[in-house]
Formats: sequence, C-alpha cells, structure tokens
Amino acid sequence: MIHYPKWALMALMALLLMACGGEEANYADYEVVPCPQRVQETGGAPFRLSGATRVVYPEGDTLSERNAAFLSASIRELTGLSLSTSTEGDRGIVLEVEADESRPEGYRITVDARRIHVVGYSPAGLFYGCQTLRKAIPIGRGPVLFPAGTIEDAPRFAYRGMHLDVGRHLFPVDFIKEYIDILALHNLNVFHWHLTDDQGWRVEIKRYPKLTEVGAFRKESLTDGKLDGTPYGGFYTQEEIREVVAYASERFVEVIPEIDLPGHTSAVLASYPELGCTGGPYEVPAEYGVHKDVLCIGNPETIEFVKNVLAEIIDLFPSHFIHVGGDECPRDRWEECPKCQALVRRQGWKDGVEYPKEAQLQSYFMREVEAFVASRGRKVIGWDEILEGGVDPEVTVMAWRGAEKGVDAAGKGHEVIMTPAGTLYFSAGNLLNLGGDRGLRHVYGFEPAPDTLEADVRARIIGSQACLWTERVLDSERAEYMILPRLAALSEVVWSAPERKDFAHFMDRLYRLCAYYDHYGYTYSKHAHQITERVEADTVAGCSRVQLSTIGHRPIYYTTDGTRPDTTSSRYTGLIEIRQSTPLRAQVIAGSDTSQLYSEDIRVNEATFKPARLAYPPHENYTFQGVTTLFDGLRGDRNYNTGRWLGFFDRDLDVTIDLREPTRVSSVTVSTNVSKGAAVMGATGLEVYCSDDGAEFRRVAQKAIPILGPDDADGLYEHSVRFPERMTRFVRVVARKTPELPAWHQWPHTPAFLFVDEVIVDNP
Ligand code: ACM
Ligand code: ZN
Repeated sequence: MIHYPKWALMALMALLLMACGGEEANYADYEVVPCPQRVQETGGAPFRLSGATRVVYPEGDTLSERNAAFLSASIRELTGLSLSTSTEGDRGIVLEVEADESRPEGYRITVDARRIHVVGYSPAGLFYGCQTLRKAIPIGRGPVLFPAGTIEDAPRFAYRGMHLDVGRHLFPVDFIKEYIDILALHNLNVFHWHLTDDQGWRVEIKRYPKLTEVGAFRKESLTDGKLDGTPYGGFYTQEEIREVVAYASERFVEVIPEIDLPGHTSAVLASYPELGCTGGPYEVPAEYGVHKDVLCIGNPETIEFVKNVLAEIIDLFPSHFIHVGGDECPRDRWEECPKCQALVRRQGWKDGVEYPKEAQLQSYFMREVEAFVASRGRKVIGWDEILEGGVDPEVTVMAWRGAEKGVDAAGKGHEVIMTPAGTLYFSAGNLLNLGGDRGLRHVYGFEPAPDTLEADVRARIIGSQACLWTERVLDSERAEYMILPRLAALSEVVWSAPERKDFAHFMDRLYRLCAYYDHYGYTYSKHAHQITERVEADTVAGCSRVQLSTIGHRPIYYTTDGTRPDTTSSRYTGLIEIRQSTPLRAQVIAGSDTSQLYSEDIRVNEATFKPARLAYPPHENYTFQGVTTLFDGLRGDRNYNTGRWLGFFDRDLDVTIDLREPTRVSSVTVSTNVSKGAAVMGATGLEVYCSDDGAEFRRVAQKAIPILGPDDADGLYEHSVRFPERMTRFVRVVARKTPELPAWHQWPHTPAFLFVDEVIVDNP
C-alpha cells in the first residue's frame, strides 16, 4: 500500500488558503486507530469546523443527545472550540441513527462543505463514528478543516475486550473510569473486570459480608520477590460498582464481571472456611501462583453460596456474559476430601484416559453454575480449562493457554474469545523489553481467526481481548504503561479487516494517537519511539544490511566510528551496508525530541556473512533467522529470546562453514548463554574440523568443558580452541550440549538447552 505524505498536501492547501486571505487551519485526518474499513476523500471543498458549528441530533433521542454531548466536549478539549448542540437544522455536524442489525456497531460519515453527516447503524455505531471524528482532529487551537469524502466502517469482531485483575492489586474507581475511557478511545467494547482472586475479594456482597471484611485484606504482599510486611487490601462497594457500570455503559463498554471459581478462591476460604475441603484455617495469601486450597464441591453449601453470590453479581452487572473463571484449579484437595469423594462415588465417575475422575467435580460444578446463570438470562464465560472433563456447549470459552485451545473449543461448538497468554497478556514485559517496535509488532501480527480454519470454527471465534494481571503492576501509571500503546495494536486486531492491516501504516497513525495519550496525560511505553533495527545478513554478497526505523519518521543520524551522532552526522535514508567490523551508533534527533542512543558493535570475523549449514536444526521456538544467526556479527545479551541466540535442544550444535576461498585460520570461539534455572546449560565440548573440499574433514582441535555445577554463574560464556595456523576453505564446528540436566537440577535427567549466538573463526 502506498501512502502519500498527506501532511505535504495539507500544508500546501493551508498555504493556498492563507494566500487567498483565509486563516490558517488544521486538517482532520480520517486515518485513525483503529483504521476505518474504507476512507474515500472526494476532493471537494472541505467542511470548516469553527466555534459557530452546531452538533445536531434527533429530538427525543437521548442516546444520540449523549453522543452529541460527548463529541462537543471532545472537540472543546482538543481545539478549545465550544460547539453548541441542537435538535434543529441540517447543517454542522449532523448525527443520526439508522438501525441496521447486520452491522450494529458500524457507521457512515459523509463530509461536504455544508455538513458532516454521521449515521450510526445503532447508538453504539454512532458513538464509534464520533470517536473517529474526534481522533481525526489535530490537537491544537482553532478551526479544523474536514476533507470532503466518505467513511464506511464497522468492526470485524463483536467482542473486543480488555481485562484488569484487581485481585492482586487494587485501583481507585477514578482510574477504572480512565481505563474505560482508554478502552473506548480504542473502540473496545468489553471491560473484563477480574474481581476476585486468591490475594483478594474485591466486590461487596451483601449476603456474605466477610468476603470483604476478611477476604479483601492480606497481611502483606510479595513485592520484588520479597514479602513486604505491609498490610494491603480494599474493595469496591456495590454503589461504586454501579457507578462504574453506568460510566462504561455511556461509552458503550460492557463490564463483564469475573468471579473466579472454583480455584483462585483462597480469599473466599479465609472468609468462610467451611467452604474448603479441610475446613481451614485459611489466610488471604501474599504469594502469587496456583493455590491448592479451592472450593469444596462435595459440600452442598458451596453451590448455594456461589448461587447467592452470583445472584448479587447478576443484579449489579447487566452484562450479556458473566465470567466464572474455571482456570488453574488443582484437584489435590478433592482427592483427599471425604465429601468430594462421596460425590464422586454417588455419581459413579471413573478415571478417564485424559483426566482423573476428580476432573468431573469441576465440570459438574461448572454445569450447575452455568444452569443458574442461564436461568437468570445470562451466558457464562470460562477460561479454557473448563473444557477438561466436559462442559455445556452454551459456555463461551476464553482461550488463554494458546490460540489452539480456542480452536479446539470452537471445534467442539463453543463460542470463543482469544486471549493467548504469549501475545495478549500485557502483564508480560518480555516482548516489550525486546525494545523498539517489537512488542507492538507481535501484538499487531496476531490473527484471532485465521482463514485456514474451517468456516464454522472460524465463525465461532467472536473476538479477542488482552489481559492485565497485576502481580507486578502496583499502581495506575504502571497499568497504563503496560497496556499502552499495545492496546492500539489490539484495537486493529479486533476492529480492522485483515486486508486493511499494515504495520508501517499503523505506526504512522499510532504516532498521531500518541499525541492524544500526551494530551490526556496517559502513561505509555515509548519503546517504539526508540530506534528499531533489522539486520539482514547476505551470505551471497558477503555483507549485512541494517535498517533503522522509529515511529513518526523522525530523522535518524548515525556514525560508524563509535562517536555519538549529531545533526552533522550522516542522515539515515536507507539500508546501511556493513562489510567490516563497525561500531554503529544512531539517534533520532528532531529538535528537542531525541531517542536513546542506539549502539551496535557489529564484529566481523572470517566466518561472518559466509554460507553455513547446520547438521541438526535448533529447537523450533529458537530458530529465528536460522543458521545465519550464528554468523551475522551480532552478539546477544542475557535474554535468549531476542532472536540473537539459537537454542539447541535435541542435538548438539554441528555447523559447517564455507569460507568461500582457502583462508588462514587458527582459532574458533563459540559464545553461549547460560540460565540454569530455565534448563539452559553450557557447552561441554568443542571440536573443530577442516576440509579443502567440503567432503573430507580432519579434526584440528578438541576440548572438553566441565558440566556446570549449581554454583557456576549464569550469564555469557566464551569457549575457544586454538590450533596451528592452516589454510582451509571449510570449517566444521561441533559444540556439545550438556547431555542431560544434572542430578542437582530441579528437573534432573531431562534434556538441556544449549544457546549459541555466534561462531567465530579467526586467525588472531
Ligand atoms: C489465567 O491466566 N490463569 C487465566
Ligand atoms: Zn471437598
């Protein structure tokens, strides 16, 4: 897709206007986040929005009136222009609803010199039309020119969600409202409120006051890996809950409450110990993770309790869905509990091939819960574990343990919401921390319903959401930082048609959206404002090419002599070709807007950029650019997920390099990365073979390396062998893995990884 530099055209039009005696005006840009499905500018005279413009809505239509008020308040915030609203006339910004049940959240905007006509196919559709207009406005003072044209838009998925765990850490009601504002800004329509967990029960239940008197407070928290000795707790009153639900509803966001059952219920047991298998005593734990004490299914009081709680929840939340958890529920207590075992016997459940008989306790319980919720006219969502042991097809499955769990559930007839942890758990910083635009790119690339699926399976995938678990999210700023701007990438995953998606274009639109984040004072990660590099080794040309990019196309300056760049340095315009060892430094410098210094020492040895072949492939999760990863001149840091490291699991590293011509060599070095706790161990031997023809090899060096002990440090290791200098064309290097994890390891006698980032062949 080609995108003309619209700013250039607009600047030209603004200049022309001024030359004609008109005032300077800013142009609206309809290419917002999420990208509307179709934008067509027709090129006629633009609509001029000024303080005299009115927002017109149909008389007696309170939802449209609210949309009109929302739009006029947004315009005032963004431009300083105070627009009045009116039910009369057909000029100005004219809002209408024209019901179309085939695309209820869709809208159409038609702009000409006389008016901006926004037609929503429901009040929600009208709201999204107003959102697009709002985001199209450049932030600044004064009039705005809206290019003539039409926008046709509707979301791809009906379920577009964002979750927040308030069990681990609590956030004030004002922040919950801001969170909902943020969701609405990104056209998301579900706020999944995870209200209960082991570490705290956060919703007032009138019938069970101890849930919040006892269950909402813990003695201390696990902070930075240590118990902090500081009491922590709190909860939302029913009045506050109603206030949040109403606030969300005005923004067309549905609040789906989650009461996590029957696991993650330590806070319930601390409040009502008789609901546990052992009878307690229990505490609200400070430690995170999966706790073995869960609700006792064999006790008939448990289901009574759950129904009474859910009755109040259903009363508080008008949502179509009620989320009842179902995740991470260990069966240990049920195996030992006389009441649970009596139920197993009464029902005649037997151990199955896949799951033990106790799995039936969970599905039995979930069926009861489902029937109760259904009797109140609502639908149940559960995490994907609820499939184990069987569950009613009416239940909607939230797939978190991988998209394949969702596909499996959809194949069994369930509606599915995709929230695979590896991509959409925004609590995980690992992808963000890869730097540059990588975290965003990862989310943006997620496809919830690939067209390779059977049509009926695909149709059951109703949407997707991201989750923010808050074990390590202690305050509101951190919460915003973790979700922004990845939420923007998610918004296109769930809103935009796949053929409309284009990452480079998204980054341009996101750059403008970041001005909104700044305007509203949202905290967001600026990883994408730093320089992202992409390095491609070319073994045919014998070089690598470095591409540098940053959000907003801001100017990047670079040097290749190790000095810090300034505006007199080379300006980056395209790929930088590297043939020799190069200390590459680069920085965005756009006035006071600068990035952090980008610094990469590309180190070239005789094997760098040369063709090579692996005898055995690396582990599929750690293959990255394949064998050239070992000869690209790029060294990795201790994070073995960056793409700089290949991970060997089944077999040793065994690689043969073609130096292309007879070359003088006398040493080989292999650099490895050790992280013992993650089964990432060191090399245990190094062998080097040489050949003139690539067929017959002679061993020239060999070295044994001791297996690492429990006290050996994690981190980066280099192993070298030297041998008498010789001319050779082919070099084969074998780095032996640790054959299996040693007896001292937590997983003894299981396979170990060997991570290697570079194989260096030299003649020092
Ligand atoms: C989950 O992450 N336990 C749903
Ligand atoms: Zn029990």
